[in-house]
Formats: sequence, structure tokens, C-alpha cells
Amino acid sequence: MGYLVAGNWKMNKTVGETLEYLELFLPAVKDLTKVEIMIAPPFTALSSASIKLDAARREGEYNVKLGAQNMYYEEKGAFTGEISPLMLTELEVEYVILGHSERRHIFGERDSLINKKVISAVEHGIRPILCVGETIEEREQGRTLSVVERQIRNGLAGVERDLVYIDIAYEPVWAIGTGVNATPEQAQEVHRFIRSLINEISKGNDHKTRILYGGSVNEKNARELIREPNVDGFLVGTASLDPERFYKVITEVLEV
Ligand code: 13P
Repeated sequence: MGYLVAGNWKMNKTVGETLEYLELFLPAVKDLTKVEIMIAPPFTALSSASIKLDAARREGEYNVKLGAQNMYYEEKGAFTGEISPLMLTELEVEYVILGHSERRHIFGERDSLINKKVISAVEHGIRPILCVGETIEEREQGRTLSVVERQIRNGLAGVERDLVYIDIAYEPVWAIGTGVNATPEQAQEVHRFIRSLINEISKGNDHKTRILYGGSVNEKNARELIREPNVDGFLVGTASLDPERFYKVITEVLEV
């Protein structure tokens, strides 16, 4: 699989702002089919974005997919405020970001809940991007690899045979929204570790899991990061909110 450059908009952009963004962004990425692009607007804008993407695809070659930022694992029921996989597949959502550090740290999501969501997403044909990463304290205590290993083993429990449908994002918590990205060497060390873990977990099954890096990725640092052999793309927050900056990150990836 080729590179994936995904934009996590977090709690940003109304429907109107989403449509304005796409007016600018879609013409710029027409025919850029060598890299897979994903945008994850908030739930309220998914429907409008989906219609807009459909219309664009009818008129040209686009490799732009739609993603959700979260999902509950049940299909329906008394779960006030939650969004189900069926609600996402109806909107042609192809990706779902799960276990993002903001979900873990602000909303208290644990590995066991995230694992249920991963299993449900795979069952419903939505490709999960499982996010993992250590806090600054954990890094300073030398626990980076053990934390990432725990998050991955627990997050992927029961779907070891389905890794062909799953991507991982390594997002060190200290690099998210801080302007301080992991150095290419730091990213490579963890990505190499994740790659070997995934190979072990998949028990030799052919898998197409990509390992994305996330945390203060921008148009200036994207090239040196993507040059690392185990970095298969990015999960971009802040720099994805501006269509021009996100386009530049994508073109940096295309240069490699
Ligand atoms: P920033 O790019 O703003 O650091 O956010 C990264 C992130 O959390 C993407 O999921």
C-alpha cells in the first residue's frame, strides 16, 4: 500500500467551514492519486463532506477518503451521544481514528474499550487507525516501547488475523499540538519496533498495516520524517486545518 496522509480536524470546522475548505482543497489534490489522502471532519460535517467528495469523484480522479474521529462499537441502542458504525458506513466513511491520545487522556478511554471499537470497525468494513504513544513522563522513565507495546497488543487483541485492514498511528503525546515533533530518529526507533511487533502479532499472515507518524507534522518537517523507512504516512492535526498547508504536506510526501 502507498503512503497515507490523514488530516484529523479534531473539534474544528462547522459544516460551512468544511465546505469552504473542500472548495479550495479538492481542486488542488485532483489527480494526486499516488498518495492516499484522508480527512476526518467532526461528525456534524461528515454528511456534507461525503456528498461533496462524491460529486468531486464523478468529475475527476481523487484519492481522498473520508474518516471519522471516533466511533462506538455497538450498532444502535441507548448510548446517548455516541455514533455507531452503521451511521458511518451509510456516509461512506472508510476510516476511523480510534484510541487517539485526546480520547485516552481527556475522556478516559482505556485499551479494553478501544479494542472493542477496533473489532467493531473491522467487522463493519471501516479501516481503523489505532493511535498509540507515550507521555513525556513515560519517555523520560524509559518506558516508551513498553507503553506502545501494551497499547498495540491490547488494542489489537482478537483481530490479529485482520491486520490487513488496520493502520497504526504513532503519536507521542508530548509532540501533539506542541510544535515539537519527534525527530526522524525518534520516530524511526518506535516505528521499527511497531513493525516488528505487528509482524510477530500477525503470525506470518500477509498484512498491509501502515505505520503513520503524528505530532506536530507540518510542511517543513514532513520530508525528513517520511524519508525514514518505517514511516508510511502521517496523521496531521493543526497543519491539516488549512487546505494550503495540508496540500503542502501531501506534496512533500509525493517528492520522496
Ligand atoms: P498536531 O499535528 O496538531 O500536533 O496533532 C496531531 C494529532 O493529534 C493528529 O491526530
